[in-house]
Amino acid sequence: MIRRFFVPATFVSSFFFERRGATRSNLDFFGSRRSLGTRNMEHKVPCLCFSSPRVGLTGNLVRKCYRTAVMAVTVVIGAQWGDEGKGKIVDLLAPHFTWIARYQGGANAGHTIVFEGKKFVFHLVPSGILYPDKKCVLGNGMVIDPVQLRKEMDGLAEGGIDFEGRLLISERAHLLLPTHQMLDRAREEDRLVKKIGTTLRGIGPAYSDKFKRCGVPFGEFLDREECVDELLRNHLSQLGISPSPELKEKMDFWKEAARSLAGFVTDTGFPLRRAIERGETILAEGAQGTMLDIDHGTYPYVTSSTTCAFGATAGLGIPARAVTRVIGIFKAYSTRVGEGPFPTELFGEEAQRLREAGGEYGATTGRPRRVGWLDAVALKYAADINGCDGLILTKADVLNNTLFEKTKIGVAYEGLSRLPRKFPPKITVTYRDFPTWPTLRGLEIPPELDSYLAAIEEYSGAPVIALSTGPDRNEIIWRKPFLD
Ligand code: IMP
Repeated sequence: MIRRFFVPATFVSSFFFERRGATRSNLDFFGSRRSLGTRNMEHKVPCLCFSSPRVGLTGNLVRKCYRTAVMAVTVVIGAQWGDEGKGKIVDLLAPHFTWIARYQGGANAGHTIVFEGKKFVFHLVPSGILYPDKKCVLGNGMVIDPVQLRKEMDGLAEGGIDFEGRLLISERAHLLLPTHQMLDRAREEDRLVKKIGTTLRGIGPAYSDKFKRCGVPFGEFLDREECVDELLRNHLSQLGISPSPELKEKMDFWKEAARSLAGFVTDTGFPLRRAIERGETILAEGAQGTMLDIDHGTYPYVTSSTTCAFGATAGLGIPARAVTRVIGIFKAYSTRVGEGPFPTELFGEEAQRLREAGGEYGATTGRPRRVGWLDAVALKYAADINGCDGLILTKADVLNNTLFEKTKIGVAYEGLSRLPRKFPPKITVTYRDFPTWPTLRGLEIPPELDSYLAAIEEYSGAPVIALSTGPDRNEIIWRKPFLD
């Protein structure tokens, strides 16, 4: 199907032409109104979808072309503290890619997709799985709880989704044991260490074991099951407990779930690299957000993986040069779950109003999210560090003039020229006020929202290419063509 997207040699000039002539509204990349050939026809994504014209080349020529590949890998990242609505955007873009691949994190992420009247909740499986022709990968950079994954796969099977042969799990992804969750909880309850406010899904301990080189890659478990018992003994000694019948029962269930996934476990990096050579396209799906990145986020109040776009190459086993496009997703306002700095945070009645209007409760834990105004300092940092080619705004519908008369953008932190490594306990934010916009209807962008978007572009340095105006796939306005 992807071959329908082949673009003739003149495509570069048509890009250019399209860019010049483009105005807001649902632009068609090709200029012509040709069908994209997917069941998601109403979502013609401008300047986005096609394979490179290198199919069929071999040897040195492939390698040469590989270097100049224009369309290989697009990475979708969260440009705030997670929960930006990446799931919907990935679901929307998926038809235009051959592969959808998660590269980091685990069941700490979560989103719900309603498809043909059935509700699917994903924590681990990429949402592209709902498209019958897409190949989905759980990359080596992930930490996988096999019980959770089995549950999601069973849910898919019950919903009539056939994933045989097109769901691949990396043999290098690390397994997450029930005791990782116990260790996570024990750490959060330990008064001697800083509470992070984790999702309690065992993510930090699982990545700790990976980096301590005592973790269990999925392939290793399938080769030699005893390695799990060795790790389990290590965990029990850290927890200071002896094995209970309940834990044994839990572990038996866990092992059964892990064994049942054996047929899906493989070297996922190899087929992804070959796919890039063939000119197939990959959508790399990030979880959490830039400000939660282990290296570049608000450490220590972060998750334990590389959430930034560059995590995609390590987390999928593909060359860095294969990444050709990065899309940052951000909400019209900010939210954060768990502890840590949040300079534009709102409190009291205003916060509660925004939380309710946006349904800001954790998809994984149900916790009420902290809410605040849009933080352009953080957004600029995210656009900069990820090298965002474009930004997509979500929840544009929430912040309308029935909720607040005015909205604010935090444009600077007083006394700081940029986002600091460590936030001072009290930070004074300089704000700019903007009028909110009327309830959104159709594809029109009200002038108030347009000025808000223009200011965001000015502060972040990246174009806002689209805005999501509701949870449904149809609720999207393409504002600018998306160019290479
Ligand atoms: P962990 O990833 O469970 O270790 O949690 C570390 C921090 O990241 C905590 O503040 C969590 O609330 C936050 N976090 C983890 N996953 C998500 C997510 O998907 N959305 C928003 N915050 C998250």
